[in-house]
Amino acid sequence: MDPVLIVGAGIVGLTLGQALKQKNIPFEIYERDATPDARGQGWAITLHWALEYMWKMLPEETLARIQAVQVDPDVARNDNGNFLFINLETGEPKYKIPPSTRWRVNREKTRRALLQGIEDHVHWGRRVVGVNLPNDSNKVQLVFEDQTSVTGRIAVGVEGSRSMVRQILRPDSFNNSPLNINFTGVAVDLTPDQIKPLRDMDPLLFQGCHPPSGAFFWFSMLETPQVNGTAGTADERYRAQICMSWPVTGPEDEVAVTDEARLANMKRRAQGFVPFLRESVDRIPDGTPVTEIKLADWECLSWDNHSGRVTLAGDAAHAMTMYRGEAANHGLLDAYRLMEAIVKIYDGSATPSVAIDEFETEMRTRTSRAVRLSRQACVDAHDWSRLDETSAILTKRAIVGE
Ligand SMILES: Cc1cc2nc3c(=O)[nH]c(=O)nc-3n(C[C@H](O)[C@H](O)[C@H](O)COP(=O)(O)OP(=O)(O)OC[C@H]3O[C@@H](n4cnc5c(N)ncnc54)[C@H](O)[C@@H]3O)c2cc1C
Ligand SMILES: *[C@@H]1O[C@H](CO)[C@@H](O)[C@H](O)[C@H]1NC(C)=O
Ligand SMILES: *[C@@H]1O[C@H](CO)[C@@H](O)[C@H](O)[C@H]1NC(C)=O
Ligand SMILES: *[C@@H]1O[C@H](CO)[C@@H](O)[C@H](O)[C@H]1NC(C)=O
Repeated sequence: MDPVLIVGAGIVGLTLGQALKQKNIPFEIYERDATPDARGQGWAITLHWALEYMWKMLPEETLARIQAVQVDPDVARNDNGNFLFINLETGEPKYKIPPSTRWRVNREKTRRALLQGIEDHVHWGRRVVGVNLPNDSNKVQLVFEDQTSVTGRIAVGVEGSRSMVRQILRPDSFNNSPLNINFTGVAVDLTPDQIKPLRDMDPLLFQGCHPPSGAFFWFSMLETPQVNGTAGTADERYRAQICMSWPVTGPEDEVAVTDEARLANMKRRAQGFVPFLRESVDRIPDGTPVTEIKLADWECLSWDNHSGRVTLAGDAAHAMTMYRGEAANHGLLDAYRLMEAIVKIYDGSATPSVAIDEFETEMRTRTSRAVRLSRQACVDAHDWSRLDETSAILTKRAIVGE
Protein backbone atom coordinates (compact mmCIF):
# COMPACT_ATOMS: atom_id res chain seq x y z
CA MET A 1 0.00 0.00 0.00
CA ASP A 2 0.99 3.60 -0.46
CA PRO A 3 2.70 5.19 2.55
CA VAL A 4 1.36 7.54 5.19
CA LEU A 5 2.65 11.02 4.29
CA ILE A 6 3.59 13.09 7.35
CA VAL A 7 4.11 16.86 6.98
CA GLY A 8 6.56 18.13 9.64
CA ALA A 9 9.37 16.47 11.64
CA GLY A 10 8.49 18.03 15.00
CA ILE A 11 8.07 15.99 18.16
CA VAL A 12 4.62 14.77 17.12
CA GLY A 13 5.49 13.90 13.50
CA LEU A 14 8.61 11.97 14.50
CA THR A 15 6.75 10.13 17.27
CA LEU A 16 4.06 9.11 14.79
CA GLY A 17 6.79 7.88 12.42
CA GLN A 18 8.40 5.79 15.18
CA ALA A 19 5.01 4.35 16.17
CA LEU A 20 4.18 3.40 12.56
CA LYS A 21 7.60 1.79 12.12
CA GLN A 22 6.83 -0.44 15.13
CA LYS A 23 3.70 -1.59 13.26
CA ASN A 24 5.49 -2.09 9.91
CA ILE A 25 3.33 0.55 8.24
CA PRO A 26 5.07 2.47 5.44
CA PHE A 27 5.49 6.21 6.07
CA GLU A 28 7.54 9.18 4.87
CA ILE A 29 8.10 12.46 6.72
CA TYR A 30 8.67 15.77 4.89
CA GLU A 31 10.29 18.66 6.80
CA ARG A 32 10.98 22.20 5.63
CA ASP A 33 14.14 22.65 7.80
CA ALA A 34 17.28 22.03 5.74
CA THR A 35 18.93 19.76 8.34
CA PRO A 36 18.21 18.30 11.79
CA ASP A 37 20.43 21.02 13.30
CA ALA A 38 18.82 23.95 11.49
CA ARG A 39 17.26 25.22 14.71
CA GLY A 40 18.91 26.58 17.81
CA GLN A 41 18.86 25.18 21.32
CA GLY A 42 15.17 25.70 21.83
CA TRP A 43 12.97 25.37 24.85
CA ALA A 44 12.53 22.67 27.41
CA ILE A 45 9.16 20.96 27.72
CA THR A 46 7.64 18.84 30.47
CA LEU A 47 6.36 15.41 29.53
CA HIS A 48 3.90 14.22 32.14
CA TRP A 49 0.68 12.35 31.46
CA ALA A 50 1.71 11.49 27.89
CA LEU A 51 4.64 9.39 29.20
CA GLU A 52 2.26 6.44 29.59
CA TYR A 53 1.50 6.51 25.85
CA MET A 54 5.12 7.04 24.89
CA TRP A 55 5.93 3.77 26.68
CA LYS A 56 3.28 2.04 24.60
CA MET A 57 4.29 3.34 21.17
CA LEU A 58 8.06 3.98 21.20
CA PRO A 59 10.91 1.44 21.15
CA GLU A 60 12.82 1.12 24.42
CA GLU A 61 16.03 2.56 23.02
CA THR A 62 14.18 5.70 21.88
CA LEU A 63 12.65 6.13 25.34
CA ALA A 64 16.09 5.74 26.89
CA ARG A 65 17.47 8.43 24.57
CA ILE A 66 14.68 10.83 25.52
CA GLN A 67 15.15 10.07 29.20
CA ALA A 68 18.81 10.97 28.76
CA VAL A 69 18.08 14.50 27.49
CA GLN A 70 16.36 15.70 30.64
CA VAL A 71 17.56 19.18 31.55
CA ASP A 72 18.86 18.12 34.96
CA PRO A 73 19.92 14.47 35.25
CA ASP A 74 20.38 14.79 39.04
CA VAL A 75 16.89 16.08 39.65
CA ALA A 76 15.57 13.48 37.20
CA ARG A 77 16.87 10.70 39.43
CA ASN A 78 15.01 11.97 42.46
CA ASP A 79 12.41 14.53 41.49
CA ASN A 80 10.03 15.45 44.28
CA GLY A 81 9.56 19.07 43.30
CA ASN A 82 6.19 20.73 43.57
CA PHE A 83 4.64 22.75 40.81
CA LEU A 84 4.87 26.21 42.41
CA PHE A 85 2.93 29.38 41.73
CA ILE A 86 4.31 32.30 43.75
CA ASN A 87 3.58 35.90 44.67
CA LEU A 88 6.32 37.79 42.80
CA GLU A 89 6.16 40.74 45.18
CA THR A 90 6.92 38.69 48.31
CA GLY A 91 8.43 35.48 46.90
CA GLU A 92 5.86 33.49 48.92
CA PRO A 93 4.50 30.37 47.25
CA LYS A 94 0.77 30.86 46.86
CA TYR A 95 0.02 27.39 45.50
CA LYS A 96 1.90 24.11 45.53
CA ILE A 97 0.71 21.30 43.33
CA PRO A 98 2.18 18.00 44.51
CA PRO A 99 4.63 16.27 42.19
CA SER A 100 3.73 13.73 39.57
CA THR A 101 6.10 11.82 37.31
CA ARG A 102 7.61 14.32 34.90
CA TRP A 103 10.50 14.40 32.46
CA ARG A 104 11.63 17.93 31.68
CA VAL A 105 13.48 17.55 28.39
CA ASN A 106 15.26 19.78 25.93
CA ARG A 107 12.98 20.04 22.91
CA GLU A 108 15.62 19.95 20.17
CA LYS A 109 17.52 17.07 21.78
CA THR A 110 14.24 15.17 22.09
CA ARG A 111 13.65 15.73 18.41
CA ARG A 112 17.09 14.27 17.63
CA ALA A 113 16.44 11.31 19.94
CA LEU A 114 13.19 10.61 18.07
CA LEU A 115 14.93 10.82 14.71
CA GLN A 116 17.32 7.95 15.41
CA GLY A 117 16.17 4.76 13.70
CA ILE A 118 13.89 6.48 11.16
CA GLU A 119 16.45 8.77 9.45
CA ASP A 120 15.89 7.08 6.08
CA HIS A 121 12.23 8.15 6.11
CA VAL A 122 12.77 11.82 6.99
CA HIS A 123 13.27 14.17 4.03
CA TRP A 124 14.84 17.52 4.94
CA GLY A 125 14.52 20.75 2.99
CA ARG A 126 11.11 19.64 1.66
CA ARG A 127 8.56 22.37 2.36
CA VAL A 128 5.05 21.21 1.55
CA VAL A 129 2.94 23.85 -0.19
CA GLY A 130 -0.17 21.93 -1.25
CA VAL A 131 -2.30 18.79 -0.94
CA ASN A 132 -3.94 17.17 -4.02
CA LEU A 133 -6.93 14.85 -3.86
CA PRO A 134 -6.86 12.74 -7.05
CA ASN A 135 -10.01 11.08 -8.47
CA ASP A 136 -8.76 7.76 -7.10
CA SER A 137 -10.17 8.07 -3.58
CA ASN A 138 -7.46 5.76 -2.19
CA LYS A 139 -4.75 8.30 -2.94
CA VAL A 140 -3.55 11.68 -1.72
CA GLN A 141 -0.58 13.79 -2.86
CA LEU A 142 1.71 16.33 -1.25
CA VAL A 143 3.06 19.12 -3.43
CA PHE A 144 6.44 20.74 -2.70
CA GLU A 145 7.88 24.19 -3.37
CA ASP A 146 9.56 23.00 -6.57
CA GLN A 147 6.15 21.67 -7.79
CA THR A 148 7.24 18.03 -7.50
CA SER A 149 4.82 15.75 -5.64
CA VAL A 150 4.57 12.40 -3.81
CA THR A 151 1.61 10.04 -3.54
CA GLY A 152 0.38 8.25 -0.43
CA ARG A 153 -2.68 6.73 1.24
CA ILE A 154 -3.21 9.33 4.01
CA ALA A 155 -1.69 12.78 4.57
CA VAL A 156 -1.17 14.02 8.13
CA GLY A 157 -0.45 17.71 8.83
CA VAL A 158 1.71 17.95 11.96
CA GLU A 159 3.54 21.11 10.94
CA GLY A 160 2.89 23.16 14.03
CA SER A 161 0.60 25.99 15.02
CA ARG A 162 0.83 27.81 11.68
CA SER A 163 -0.11 24.75 9.69
CA MET A 164 -0.44 24.94 5.93
CA VAL A 165 -2.59 21.78 5.81
CA ARG A 166 -4.98 23.41 8.33
CA GLN A 167 -5.25 26.36 5.96
CA ILE A 168 -6.18 24.00 3.10
CA LEU A 169 -8.79 22.20 5.23
CA ARG A 170 -10.31 25.33 6.79
CA PRO A 171 -9.52 28.19 4.37
CA ASP A 172 -12.23 30.32 5.99
CA SER A 173 -10.91 30.15 9.55
CA PHE A 174 -7.40 28.76 9.93
CA ASN A 175 -5.90 31.75 11.76
CA ASN A 176 -4.99 31.48 15.43
CA SER A 177 -6.92 33.82 17.76
CA PRO A 178 -4.61 36.22 19.61
CA LEU A 179 -4.81 36.85 23.36
CA ASN A 180 -4.53 40.33 24.72
CA ILE A 181 -1.28 39.48 26.48
CA ASN A 182 2.33 39.85 25.28
CA PHE A 183 5.23 37.52 26.03
CA THR A 184 9.03 37.68 25.79
CA GLY A 185 11.76 35.40 27.09
CA VAL A 186 15.52 34.88 27.22
CA ALA A 187 18.01 32.10 27.87
CA VAL A 188 20.82 33.14 30.24
CA ASP A 189 23.98 31.59 31.67
CA LEU A 190 24.25 31.79 35.47
CA THR A 191 26.94 30.89 37.98
CA PRO A 192 26.07 28.47 40.79
CA ASP A 193 25.80 31.41 43.23
CA GLN A 194 23.53 33.38 40.92
CA ILE A 195 21.16 30.50 40.32
CA LYS A 196 21.00 29.25 43.91
CA PRO A 197 17.99 31.32 45.10
CA LEU A 198 16.05 30.34 41.98
CA ARG A 199 16.87 26.65 42.32
CA ASP A 200 16.03 26.78 46.01
CA MET A 201 12.51 27.71 44.99
CA ASP A 202 12.35 24.74 42.61
CA PRO A 203 15.19 23.01 40.74
CA LEU A 204 13.28 22.72 37.45
CA LEU A 205 10.67 25.46 37.13
CA PHE A 206 8.30 27.80 38.89
CA GLN A 207 6.01 30.65 37.96
CA GLY A 208 4.19 33.51 39.57
CA CYS A 209 2.22 36.72 39.29
CA HIS A 210 3.00 40.25 40.49
CA PRO A 211 -0.22 41.33 42.22
CA PRO A 212 -0.04 45.10 41.57
CA SER A 213 0.77 44.94 37.85
CA GLY A 214 -0.45 41.51 36.77
CA ALA A 215 2.99 40.71 35.31
CA PHE A 216 3.77 36.99 35.03
CA PHE A 217 7.25 35.48 35.48
CA TRP A 218 8.49 32.01 34.61
CA PHE A 219 11.81 30.41 35.49
CA SER A 220 12.93 27.09 34.08
CA MET A 221 16.16 25.13 33.88
CA LEU A 222 17.65 24.51 30.44
CA GLU A 223 21.09 23.03 31.18
CA THR A 224 23.09 22.16 34.29
CA PRO A 225 26.92 22.16 34.52
CA GLN A 226 26.83 18.38 34.28
CA VAL A 227 25.02 18.48 30.92
CA ASN A 228 26.94 21.47 29.67
CA GLY A 229 30.37 20.03 30.44
CA THR A 230 31.42 22.84 32.78
CA ALA A 231 30.94 20.84 36.02
CA GLY A 232 34.00 21.01 38.23
CA THR A 233 35.68 23.75 36.18
CA ALA A 234 36.24 27.35 37.25
CA ASP A 235 33.52 28.35 34.76
CA GLU A 236 30.69 26.24 36.08
CA ARG A 237 27.52 27.45 34.33
CA TYR A 238 23.81 26.76 34.43
CA ARG A 239 21.59 27.83 31.56
CA ALA A 240 18.09 28.96 32.48
CA GLN A 241 15.04 30.35 30.77
CA ILE A 242 13.49 33.53 32.13
CA CYS A 243 10.20 34.61 30.62
CA MET A 244 7.71 37.35 31.36
CA SER A 245 4.25 38.23 30.07
CA TRP A 246 1.82 41.06 30.79
CA PRO A 247 -1.65 42.24 29.82
CA VAL A 248 -1.82 44.74 26.97
CA THR A 249 -3.68 47.93 27.90
CA GLY A 250 -1.88 50.57 25.82
CA PRO A 251 0.93 51.27 23.34
CA GLU A 252 3.58 50.95 26.09
CA ASP A 253 2.66 47.27 26.36
CA GLU A 254 3.53 46.41 22.76
CA VAL A 255 6.63 44.27 22.23
CA ALA A 256 9.49 46.48 21.00
CA VAL A 257 11.44 45.71 17.83
CA THR A 258 14.98 45.67 19.26
CA ASP A 259 16.44 43.23 21.80
CA GLU A 260 17.69 46.21 23.79
CA ALA A 261 14.23 47.75 24.18
CA ARG A 262 12.66 44.35 24.92
CA LEU A 263 15.17 43.73 27.69
CA ALA A 264 14.62 47.21 29.14
CA ASN A 265 10.89 46.44 29.23
CA MET A 266 11.46 43.19 31.16
CA LYS A 267 13.72 44.99 33.66
CA ARG A 268 11.20 47.80 34.13
CA ARG A 269 8.38 45.34 34.82
CA ALA A 270 10.52 43.41 37.34
CA GLN A 271 11.20 46.50 39.49
CA GLY A 272 8.51 45.66 42.06
CA PHE A 273 9.54 41.98 42.33
CA VAL A 274 11.08 40.50 45.50
CA PRO A 275 14.87 41.24 45.36
CA PHE A 276 16.13 37.79 44.28
CA LEU A 277 13.73 37.77 41.33
CA ARG A 278 14.32 41.41 40.39
CA GLU A 279 18.06 40.74 40.41
CA SER A 280 17.66 37.66 38.20
CA VAL A 281 16.05 39.91 35.56
CA ASP A 282 18.36 42.92 36.15
CA ARG A 283 21.37 40.66 35.63
CA ILE A 284 20.39 39.57 32.11
CA PRO A 285 23.32 40.91 30.06
CA ASP A 286 22.90 43.61 27.42
CA GLY A 287 22.95 42.05 23.98
CA THR A 288 21.01 38.93 25.04
CA PRO A 289 18.55 37.96 22.28
CA VAL A 290 14.96 38.43 23.52
CA THR A 291 12.44 36.16 21.84
CA GLU A 292 8.80 37.07 21.44
CA ILE A 293 6.19 34.34 21.55
CA LYS A 294 2.84 35.32 20.06
CA LEU A 295 0.12 34.10 22.40
CA ALA A 296 -2.66 32.77 20.20
CA ASP A 297 -4.70 29.60 19.94
CA TRP A 298 -6.92 27.49 17.66
CA GLU A 299 -9.70 25.37 19.13
CA CYS A 300 -9.54 22.30 16.90
CA LEU A 301 -12.46 23.48 14.75
CA SER A 302 -14.01 20.93 12.43
CA TRP A 303 -12.66 20.26 8.94
CA ASP A 304 -13.37 18.04 5.96
CA ASN A 305 -11.03 15.03 6.16
CA HIS A 306 -11.92 14.00 2.59
CA SER A 307 -13.13 10.50 3.54
CA GLY A 308 -10.15 9.97 5.82
CA ARG A 309 -7.50 11.02 3.29
CA VAL A 310 -6.22 14.13 5.15
CA THR A 311 -6.04 14.92 8.85
CA LEU A 312 -4.21 17.06 11.41
CA ALA A 313 -2.54 16.37 14.77
CA GLY A 314 -0.36 18.19 17.32
CA ASP A 315 -0.19 21.99 17.35
CA ALA A 316 -1.54 22.03 13.78
CA ALA A 317 -4.84 20.60 15.08
CA HIS A 318 -4.94 22.52 18.36
CA ALA A 319 -2.70 25.49 19.04
CA MET A 320 -2.74 26.40 22.74
CA THR A 321 -0.90 28.81 25.02
CA MET A 322 1.73 27.19 27.28
CA TYR A 323 0.25 28.20 30.65
CA ARG A 324 -0.72 24.63 31.46
CA GLY A 325 2.31 23.07 29.73
CA GLU A 326 0.18 20.45 28.02
CA ALA A 327 0.32 20.99 24.26
CA ALA A 328 3.04 18.45 23.51
CA ASN A 329 1.40 15.94 25.85
CA HIS A 330 -1.82 16.23 23.84
CA GLY A 331 0.13 15.99 20.57
CA LEU A 332 1.79 12.77 21.74
CA LEU A 333 -1.56 11.26 22.65
CA ASP A 334 -2.84 12.30 19.18
CA ALA A 335 0.08 10.36 17.66
CA TYR A 336 -0.86 7.28 19.68
CA ARG A 337 -4.55 7.41 18.71
CA LEU A 338 -3.75 8.16 15.07
CA MET A 339 -1.36 5.20 14.96
CA GLU A 340 -4.24 3.00 16.20
CA ALA A 341 -6.54 4.38 13.49
CA ILE A 342 -3.92 3.86 10.77
CA VAL A 343 -3.32 0.26 11.89
CA LYS A 344 -7.03 -0.45 11.33
CA ILE A 345 -6.90 1.13 7.87
CA TYR A 346 -3.84 -0.84 6.77
CA ASP A 347 -5.07 -4.18 8.13
CA GLY A 348 -8.45 -3.61 6.48
CA SER A 349 -10.50 -3.72 9.70
CA ALA A 350 -11.88 -0.19 9.16
CA THR A 351 -12.30 2.16 6.22
CA PRO A 352 -10.25 5.37 6.31
CA SER A 353 -13.38 7.43 6.71
CA VAL A 354 -14.55 5.49 9.78
CA ALA A 355 -11.11 5.22 11.41
CA ILE A 356 -10.13 8.87 10.88
CA ASP A 357 -13.58 10.06 11.94
CA GLU A 358 -13.18 8.21 15.22
CA PHE A 359 -9.66 9.60 15.71
CA GLU A 360 -10.75 13.18 15.01
CA THR A 361 -13.86 13.00 17.18
CA GLU A 362 -11.85 11.93 20.25
CA MET A 363 -9.09 14.47 19.57
CA ARG A 364 -11.53 17.34 19.03
CA THR A 365 -13.47 16.70 22.26
CA ARG A 366 -10.31 16.38 24.32
CA THR A 367 -8.28 19.23 22.87
CA SER A 368 -10.90 21.92 22.26
CA ARG A 369 -11.42 21.78 26.01
CA ALA A 370 -7.66 21.87 26.62
CA VAL A 371 -7.29 24.92 24.36
CA ARG A 372 -9.99 26.77 26.34
CA LEU A 373 -8.45 25.75 29.68
CA SER A 374 -5.01 26.95 28.57
CA ARG A 375 -6.49 30.26 27.45
CA GLN A 376 -8.21 30.66 30.82
CA ALA A 377 -4.98 29.70 32.60
CA CYS A 378 -3.17 32.44 30.68
CA VAL A 379 -5.75 35.06 31.64
CA ASP A 380 -5.84 33.92 35.31
CA ALA A 381 -2.04 33.97 35.56
CA HIS A 382 -2.13 37.75 35.03
CA ASP A 383 -4.82 38.59 37.58
CA TRP A 384 -3.86 37.86 41.18
CA SER A 385 -7.33 38.76 42.49
CA ARG A 386 -8.92 36.02 40.36
CA LEU A 387 -6.53 33.25 41.32
CA ASP A 388 -7.82 30.51 43.53
CA GLU A 389 -7.52 26.72 43.74
CA THR A 390 -10.00 26.31 40.93
CA SER A 391 -8.05 28.46 38.44
CA ALA A 392 -7.17 26.71 35.23
CA ILE A 393 -3.49 27.47 35.75
CA LEU A 394 -3.51 25.37 38.91
CA THR A 395 -5.94 22.53 38.30
CA LYS A 396 -4.52 19.13 37.62
CA ARG A 397 -2.94 18.40 34.26
CA ALA A 398 -4.78 15.36 33.06
CA ILE A 399 -5.98 13.96 29.79
CA VAL A 400 -9.46 15.34 30.29
CA GLY A 401 -8.48 18.13 32.71
CA GLU A 402 -9.82 18.77 36.23
C1 LIG B 1 7.97 28.32 25.57
C2 LIG B 1 7.18 27.07 25.36
C3 LIG B 1 7.09 26.12 26.38
C4 LIG B 1 6.36 24.96 26.22
N1 LIG B 1 6.29 24.06 27.25
C5 LIG B 1 5.57 22.93 27.11
C6 LIG B 1 5.49 21.99 28.19
O1 LIG B 1 6.08 22.17 29.26
N2 LIG B 1 4.73 20.87 28.01
C7 LIG B 1 4.05 20.64 26.84
O2 LIG B 1 3.36 19.62 26.74
N3 LIG B 1 4.13 21.50 25.79
C8 LIG B 1 4.87 22.64 25.90
N4 LIG B 1 4.96 23.51 24.85
C9 LIG B 1 4.31 23.17 23.55
C10 LIG B 1 5.15 22.26 22.68
O3 LIG B 1 6.40 22.85 22.42
C11 LIG B 1 4.41 21.98 21.36
O4 LIG B 1 3.11 21.53 21.63
C12 LIG B 1 5.10 20.91 20.51
O5 LIG B 1 6.43 21.25 20.24
C13 LIG B 1 4.32 20.76 19.21
O6 LIG B 1 4.90 19.76 18.41
P1 LIG B 1 4.44 19.56 16.92
O7 LIG B 1 5.26 18.41 16.42
O8 LIG B 1 2.96 19.51 16.84
O9 LIG B 1 4.84 20.90 16.16
P2 LIG B 1 6.27 21.61 15.97
O10 LIG B 1 7.19 21.27 17.07
O11 LIG B 1 5.96 23.04 15.71
O12 LIG B 1 6.87 20.95 14.64
C14 LIG B 1 6.36 21.25 13.37
C15 LIG B 1 7.42 20.93 12.31
O13 LIG B 1 6.86 21.11 11.01
C16 LIG B 1 7.78 21.81 10.19
N5 LIG B 1 7.00 22.49 9.16
C17 LIG B 1 6.23 23.61 9.28
N6 LIG B 1 5.65 23.93 8.12
C18 LIG B 1 6.04 22.99 7.21
C19 LIG B 1 5.76 22.78 5.83
N7 LIG B 1 4.94 23.58 5.14
N8 LIG B 1 6.33 21.71 5.21
C20 LIG B 1 7.16 20.87 5.91
N9 LIG B 1 7.46 21.04 7.21
C21 LIG B 1 6.91 22.08 7.87
C22 LIG B 1 8.48 22.73 11.16
O14 LIG B 1 9.74 23.16 10.64
C23 LIG B 1 8.62 21.84 12.39
O15 LIG B 1 9.80 21.07 12.38
C24 LIG B 1 5.69 24.70 24.99
C25 LIG B 1 5.78 25.63 23.96
C26 LIG B 1 6.51 26.80 24.13
C27 LIG B 1 6.58 27.80 23.01
C1 LIG C 1 1.14 42.25 21.66
O1 LIG C 1 -0.24 42.09 21.97
C2 LIG C 1 -1.11 42.72 21.07
C3 LIG C 1 -2.52 42.57 21.63
O2 LIG C 1 -2.93 41.25 21.64
C4 LIG C 1 -0.96 42.06 19.70
O3 LIG C 1 -1.81 42.70 18.77
C5 LIG C 1 0.47 42.18 19.26
O4 LIG C 1 0.64 41.44 18.05
C6 LIG C 1 1.40 41.63 20.32
N1 LIG C 1 2.77 41.74 19.88
C7 LIG C 1 3.39 42.89 19.63
C8 LIG C 1 4.72 42.81 18.98
O5 LIG C 1 2.92 43.97 19.94
C1 LIG D 1 28.48 25.42 28.46
O1 LIG D 1 28.15 26.75 28.80
C2 LIG D 1 29.13 27.70 28.45
C3 LIG D 1 28.69 29.00 29.04
O2 LIG D 1 27.37 29.23 28.63
C4 LIG D 1 29.27 27.73 26.93
O3 LIG D 1 30.22 28.67 26.55
C5 LIG D 1 29.67 26.33 26.47
O4 LIG D 1 29.66 26.30 25.05
C6 LIG D 1 28.72 25.29 26.98
N1 LIG D 1 29.27 23.97 26.71
C7 LIG D 1 28.55 22.96 26.23
C8 LIG D 1 29.27 21.68 26.06
O5 LIG D 1 27.38 23.07 25.97
C1 LIG E 1 -14.38 13.97 8.13
O1 LIG E 1 -14.68 14.50 6.86
C2 LIG E 1 -15.97 14.11 6.40
C3 LIG E 1 -16.13 14.56 4.95
O2 LIG E 1 -15.23 13.84 4.14
C4 LIG E 1 -17.02 14.71 7.29
O3 LIG E 1 -18.31 14.28 6.88
C5 LIG E 1 -16.77 14.25 8.72
O4 LIG E 1 -17.68 14.90 9.59
C6 LIG E 1 -15.36 14.57 9.14
N1 LIG E 1 -15.12 14.00 10.46
C7 LIG E 1 -14.93 14.73 11.56
C8 LIG E 1 -14.75 13.99 12.83
O5 LIG E 1 -14.89 15.95 11.53
